[in-house]
Amino acid sequence: MGQTRLSVNINKFATLRNARGGNNPDIIKAALDAEKFGAQGITVHPRPDERHIRYNDVRELKKVVTTEFNIEGNPMEKRFMDLVMEVVPDQVTLVPDASSALTSNQGWDTERHAHYLKDIVAEFKKANIRVSLFVDPILPMIEGAKAVNADRIELYTEAYAHQYPTNPKKALIDYKDAAIRASELGLGINAGHDLSLENLRYFHENIPNLLEVSIGHALICDALYMGLENTIKAYLDCMR
Ligand code: PXP
Repeated sequence: MGQTRLSVNINKFATLRNARGGNNPDIIKAALDAEKFGAQGITVHPRPDERHIRYNDVRELKKVVTTEFNIEGNPMEKRFMDLVMEVVPDQVTLVPDASSALTSNQGWDTERHAHYLKDIVAEFKKANIRVSLFVDPILPMIEGAKAVNADRIELYTEAYAHQYPTNPKKALIDYKDAAIRASELGLGINAGHDLSLENLRYFHENIPNLLEVSIGHALICDALYMGLENTIKAYLDCMR
């Protein structure tokens, strides 16, 4: 099993900052500290209303992040496309979330949106940006991601996380099949959503070729009790 990278989603730092209008907590410091404590990547998910990470945060972060910089979002927003092309992160993760959605709540239908995705993927790849598509663990969706020339998929792990406490083995089945199919097709595999200290180790132990997990909500909640440094180390420990 190769090393799986931990990309810390720092959106929640921005949510807290925005609640008071000042600069506390400082997003730049949060990203640099996360890296210092061992995170191998920083993820941001700017949304059209800028309710957490702002577009300008993304520009400022790009100047200082030295690990992998991953921007997530919906390419149907022209502003998002323009931002990614301006900032040129290491990776863009395309997510079909409605702007009104509280958080990402579905993967791409890579068959239905094949023509659209093919063009967008080509545009980003031309700019040397790795492209990952957020997908449910459904084999035709994985095959569709390959057909539009994505580099990677990000498996949407909400269903796994939901079922893990009652039936971890069953929770994993579709994800394992999806990961095996993705590897056969030469797609890299990322994963994210609702991963936590409770469910990450088992996922990591059982999903072959998992390159990266992006984790935000649970990690920031844990950090309130454990501190950011201990928390990041605990997540990394789940993947040793
Ligand atoms: N991956 C994607 C595409 C997401 O939208 C999010 C949440 O913004 C995450 C991963 C991280 O999920 P969580 O905050 O539940 O760890």
